[in-house]
Amino acid sequence: MIKHLAVIMDGNRRWAQARGMKGMFGHQEGVKAVDRTVQFCLESSIPYLSLYAFSLENLQRSAEEKEYIFNLMVTQLEQKIDEFIAKDIRIKFVGDRTIFPQQVMPTCRKLEHATEHCSKLVLNFLFCYGARQEIMEGVRKLVRKVKTGEIAESDLDEKAFEQCLWSAGTPVPDLIIRTGGRQRLSNFLLYQAAYSEFCFLDCLWPDITLDDFKHVVQDFENSTRNFGV
Ligand code: FPP
Repeated sequence: MIKHLAVIMDGNRRWAQARGMKGMFGHQEGVKAVDRTVQFCLESSIPYLSLYAFSLENLQRSAEEKEYIFNLMVTQLEQKIDEFIAKDIRIKFVGDRTIFPQQVMPTCRKLEHATEHCSKLVLNFLFCYGARQEIMEGVRKLVRKVKTGEIAESDLDEKAFEQCLWSAGTPVPDLIIRTGGRQRLSNFLLYQAAYSEFCFLDCLWPDITLDDFKHVVQDFENSTRNFGV
């Protein structure tokens, strides 16, 4: 059984460009694929879903594209608040909150607060996220805890470290799916992915179907995971 599904949603711009549109318009179609992913998790009783919505590296994209993505997130997520609550979905944003764009932060807070009591599915949006930066921030936090005496150096272990990560509270991903035909992790959950299964799909993110998810998860269920033992 999958407890945590994580997804690198790649290929939005290529999807739009293939249709003669400006690349950034592909993100809108990408949102529909996000809806299908959430539906799949609810139907399959998968309790944790993490979506790579915007990386720290994505901050280097054009101002126009960033504005487009941020506005899309705000309008789409604000529209869906009642639906998230009705479907018992808890929303969390995982990333460097100190640099969340000003126009997005109030929506993030609102969603997290409004869905705090929900528990059927925890939906993590990895936003302004980078795994190396998450690890570095975790190290800094741990050092501070040792310095203030909150934790003894001799008690430092994986559990103590994991509690200092932005993703604290979410189990490690069992399966990581990446669309868009590239086989790389792009600074996504590097620490947490130590024993994850990977599935790289050639289809572009807006084209992913419920059947794709069903097949991938079926393959996962049929695979043997021995965690190196
Ligand atoms: C990667 O495709 C996708 C992104 C960087 C953005 C993903 C954002 C969304 C799906 C919208 C998020 C909104 C909500 C409501 C969660 P790419 O742009 O790198 O595509 P390419 O590989 O074709 O260039």
